[in-house]
Amino acid sequence: MIETQGIIVSNKPAAESIHRIEVETERMELSKPGQFAMVGISNEDFHLNRPFSIYRQKENKLTFLIQKRGAITSRLIKKSAGTKLRIIGPLGNWFSDAPAVIVAAGSSIAAFGDFIGRNNSTIFYGAATKYDLIDIKADFFSTMDGSRGFRGNLVELFMTKREQSDKRNLYIAGPAAFIKAFRNRIDDDLANRCCASLEAYMGCGFGVCLGCVVNTKNGYRRVCKDGTIFPLKELLL
Ligand code: FES
Repeated sequence: MIETQGIIVSNKPAAESIHRIEVETERMELSKPGQFAMVGISNEDFHLNRPFSIYRQKENKLTFLIQKRGAITSRLIKKSAGTKLRIIGPLGNWFSDAPAVIVAAGSSIAAFGDFIGRNNSTIFYGAATKYDLIDIKADFFSTMDGSRGFRGNLVELFMTKREQSDKRNLYIAGPAAFIKAFRNRIDDDLANRCCASLEAYMGCGFGVCLGCVVNTKNGYRRVCKDGTIFPLKELLL
């Protein structure tokens, strides 16, 4: 983990409320699939950092997909090239980069940048409408209004294509309600090889403040430090 300064080099809309922001950092360790960074805006009186998955990394250059959700993300997506950022990362545990089946809801696709475009992985990607999907090559899309791919939610789409999951690892990411709904639909065979990347409100991002705990079969765990990736069967959501 490194704390460093970053500078926005580009900021472009990627979907209805998602911006793709590229940041050049002074120095950065190479992240692994599914890791994240804490990001804050330098030189503002608003000193909070927020967690964002590292969508792509090329040496010191990081790409984030940032969805407008609150005060900090609203500010971030308006920042132009040259804006200075605080960056702490890479943080959290990571996915094995072996071939996998990915099921990503909305902006959570950001956790899977390393898997997109790989021949040996299968991607299920869903959102409310086609305008909420970033432009990626997924194998199966779902939208609630049917504007792209399967009409309905991502869990239902996955269940109609369950055979696609064969014996590869199964990785999912999205809001807690999605993860819960997914767990409630799949059988034990799938659940046993499924890991979920959780979203959480985070204060520090590296295990100190206890602001991000989640209940599991092994007691309360910190999403930032013990996760963000947990075996699905351990979670008590
Ligand atoms: S955010 Fe501080 S312990 Fe997780």
